[in-house]
Amino acid sequence: MRPLVQRLGYMAVTAVDPERLAADTANSIGARVVRRDGDTIFMSSNRRHAEYIIRKGTDNLQAVCGLEAVSASAVDEVHERCRDAGLAVLSTTPSLDVIEKSVTFATSEGHVFEVHTPMPNDREARYAGPGLRPKGLDHVNFTAADPEKWAREMNLSCGFLLTERTTGYEIAWMRAADGRHHTVAVVKSAAGGLHHTSWEFNSFQDFKGLADALIPESRRLIWGPGRHGAGDNLFLYFKNSADFLLECIAEMEIIHDEDMEPRVCDPGENLSNWKVVNQWGPLPPIEWVEHHTPLAPLPSAVPSPVTTN
Ligand SMILES: [Fe+2]
Repeated sequence: MRPLVQRLGYMAVTAVDPERLAADTANSIGARVVRRDGDTIFMSSNRRHAEYIIRKGTDNLQAVCGLEAVSASAVDEVHERCRDAGLAVLSTTPSLDVIEKSVTFATSEGHVFEVHTPMPNDREARYAGPGLRPKGLDHVNFTAADPEKWAREMNLSCGFLLTERTTGYEIAWMRAADGRHHTVAVVKSAAGGLHHTSWEFNSFQDFKGLADALIPESRRLIWGPGRHGAGDNLFLYFKNSADFLLECIAEMEIIHDEDMEPRVCDPGENLSNWKVVNQWGPLPPIEWVEHHTPLAPLPSAVPSPVTTN
């Protein structure tokens, strides 16, 4: 079946210092603040109402990942499919006033997703500020203790298609209706969490400006630039001011065949197969491999997710 999600919608995080994180996201990535609501800051890098939402918190945590549904009826279908799969439905009230309809659910490891009708394109495409301009947020890699189960839950709930996985399900990449090699992915870890969030840029040339923007603050890249095997995309990684791992990409592979058999690749011991992780050669440092951002706790009124096994 066709995926019920078109593409990534937004990312919501909590941060100890939202102002610092917003300023860093503007200076390094190039997104700008578009709205403030109490101590919540909304950012966007394009015409969309908001795509990166920073809430004041006691820790720097991953909160909610918004996923743009292919239609309003697809939101209803996700709701039904979550119930059928035994996944906890947390809310059917949209998290923002500009979202018409949504359903929010949690995976069995506690990742929270809001599948929603599109946010309005009510921002100006061009804006003042630092020169770098991403196209927008494009994919998210989560961590899970059981990536195979996580991938099954994302397929059952939202219809995400498995594009590629490693032989032992150490990593799995899943695509939405727009056909990009992956919109959500998962890396095996000790617990459910966030590995990295990715911003898409127009070209490799933008990576130079971004890396140079880190120099005045004596910050360095974590990995890259390089070209992944899975997804064939150019990449570069660094950590933002709240210690979230960010990826910047360009040239992600598009899969046009919805019926494509999932690819299976051998990652090598400790991700040592450079043809999978980086076609240009250099392997990921341990700092990248072991990175893990915890998840914000589920609302206390919500029952614990039911496992699907
Ligand atoms: Fe990535």
